[in-house]
Amino acid sequence: MLAIMPQAQPADLSQRLLAWYDRSARSLPWRTPPGSNLRPDPYHVWLSEVMLQQTTVTAVIPYFQAFLARWPTVAALAAAPLDEVLAAWAGLGYYARARNLHKCAVMVAERLGGVFPDSEEALRALPGIGDYTAAAIAAIAFGQPAAVLDGNVERVMARLFAVREALPAARPRLKALAAGLTPALRPGDYAQAAMDLGATVCTPRNPACVLCPWRQDCRAVAEGDPESLPLKAPRPERPLRRGIAFWTLRKDGAVLIRRRPDKGLLGGMLEFPSTPWRDQDWSLDEAAAQAPAEADWRLLPGRVRHVFTHFELELSVAAGDIRRKPELALGLWCPLEDLPRQGLPTVMKKILRHALAKAY
Ligand code: ADE
Repeated sequence: MLAIMPQAQPADLSQRLLAWYDRSARSLPWRTPPGSNLRPDPYHVWLSEVMLQQTTVTAVIPYFQAFLARWPTVAALAAAPLDEVLAAWAGLGYYARARNLHKCAVMVAERLGGVFPDSEEALRALPGIGDYTAAAIAAIAFGQPAAVLDGNVERVMARLFAVREALPAARPRLKALAAGLTPALRPGDYAQAAMDLGATVCTPRNPACVLCPWRQDCRAVAEGDPESLPLKAPRPERPLRRGIAFWTLRKDGAVLIRRRPDKGLLGGMLEFPSTPWRDQDWSLDEAAAQAPAEADWRLLPGRVRHVFTHFELELSVAAGDIRRKPELALGLWCPLEDLPRQGLPTVMKKILRHALAKAY
């Protein structure tokens, strides 16, 4: 049995992490320099934190910059048509986030005079802002000592305190441990320091413990297996769904697309028409009955795969020319060269690339 080693006081631990952050902070476009006492614009913090839900820092940076260039204030974003916001979001995934982003901008601009609230509780009442995002905005934009727990910080806490309870059940305990370390001074820098430590040092694989300001206090290091934490309850396997998407290019260079229903997966985004997505394979005849118009559909070689949170999708693509009455086809004809500007979800970009590679 290993003796539990003494751990430094919370204030020592947080000070050491802040000193590390002052030397090692990642320079990110929504941040102010560490220790500068400059508070970043709450609009920038909110926008970045919503984008960073479920998406990596590297993927978010160009979107964050493009959004700010186009909509420099929350009022500008609120005034933008939802379709344009969805199109600018295309590629970031989880499109309900973009709808909530716009809804939240409208609420802040129209009901709150363009000013974000500064308490966790009031922030949590806004669309698209959950526990994590409310705490992050309160700490980073308003200097509130809110405990911020994202996936990176969960891992850091699980290792520092050798928590062997599995996620997600361990989350409340990890949150309490994170709260116990959050300092009253510089809580925003502290929250981002903990995130940076998780992203750059206390990584899921091969953590760089020699660089860690907490290594002499880390119980997982003392027990010899930091990489084994956090434990995770096994995920249910993702089911595989199948479908056939329809690719049809008119002589004038327009392709047939349609808009998905507002609610549900990829809500309100553009798509290529397709059969429903289901467990069993589709025969071409069966699929043709679901096509947006009559045509001699032919299956292109190969398939497109895409992983969603709750299932994996495997699509074949059927190409056809709609010779008779293209005006009766169910959908919108969009010039091929306009498609990128309309904003296509990643799975639809894969279909586009596949069709262009295999149909001609
Ligand atoms: N992930 C989520 N929010 C972040 C932030 N403010 N800095 C770095 N990584 C993050």
